[in-house]
Amino acid sequence: MKRQQESSRNSDDQRFRERLLTWFDRHKRDLPWRQDRDPYRVWLSEIMLQQTRVEAVREHYLRFLKRFPTIKKLAAAREPSVLAAWSGLGYYRRARMLHAAARKVMGELGGKFPRTSHELRALPGIGRYTAAAIASIAFDEPVAVVDGNVERVLQRLSGRRIGGEDVWRRAQELQALERPGDFNQAMMELGATVCVPRQPKCLLCPVSDLCATRGELPGADKAIRQRKREIHYALDCRGDSVFLVQRPAALRLMPGMWELPEVAITDASSPVHLTLRHSITVTDYRVGVIAGPAPEITNGCWIAKSRLTKLPLTGLARKILRSASII
Ligand code: ADE
Repeated sequence: MKRQQESSRNSDDQRFRERLLTWFDRHKRDLPWRQDRDPYRVWLSEIMLQQTRVEAVREHYLRFLKRFPTIKKLAAAREPSVLAAWSGLGYYRRARMLHAAARKVMGELGGKFPRTSHELRALPGIGRYTAAAIASIAFDEPVAVVDGNVERVLQRLSGRRIGGEDVWRRAQELQALERPGDFNQAMMELGATVCVPRQPKCLLCPVSDLCATRGELPGADKAIRQRKREIHYALDCRGDSVFLVQRPAALRLMPGMWELPEVAITDASSPVHLTLRHSITVTDYRVGVIAGPAPEITNGCWIAKSRLTKLPLTGLARKILRSASII
């Protein structure tokens, strides 16, 4: 495979690699899991990063590591303690898998952490992406990773709607064989900080002159498929209370959670107090918030501001209340 890769390496790809790695050396974020290449730490960080933003992972990672500094300690723990240390990160299945994998390594594998992406994939919770990330970062295996960020970078770079296996193939062609872990992290980092979905920062991009689109989105990009919607809410505060409504218990989406009363756009004749953006799966909302009561809403409650942080608020309600400095 290595020879085949070498033969398909061209000079633009080589330039891409060099520029990307130089940029990464200068601009990489200072993240706690980048202090060393200890496989346990790399593994833990990659599992945490699977569905969670870097900033949220940062503090949880350090806390978890303090509680379980080694894979041995993790394997010896009881599951409730592992879940408690995972608290706040969500997607608790990841924690259960991590724990099961630690037990497998310490038991069946006699304490030997697998060193290749192929072997890593046999552990619970480790799929193609995570196996490649750990093997390249901790063990220098020249195997490419593809996540949503890498896919976007490669689509823009080529100007084609590549997806599926083609993206993995292209990532593998570009891979820097001498620094595979840094290359993979640099690709993810470029996608997360420069080649971002909306308004990419092409002026700061180290490879913009090698890019077919300079940030234009090939048709398959998420931003193009996103639906756009406008929605208005009423923010009515009296004294120390704010008027909220509870979503019906029978709803499929966020049943029983609290939110601001929605107002029809035609009713939103009062001036818009603040606007913000909110994305839920495939829909981008432009949210307008008017100050004052929502007409025709009778099923709401006045909630003391001091109780708000203890209430199950929807993500958007929390965002609006934060923007208005109420919580
Ligand atoms: N996303 C997931 N893992 C990452 C890593 N190691 N570096 C940057 N972004 C990531």
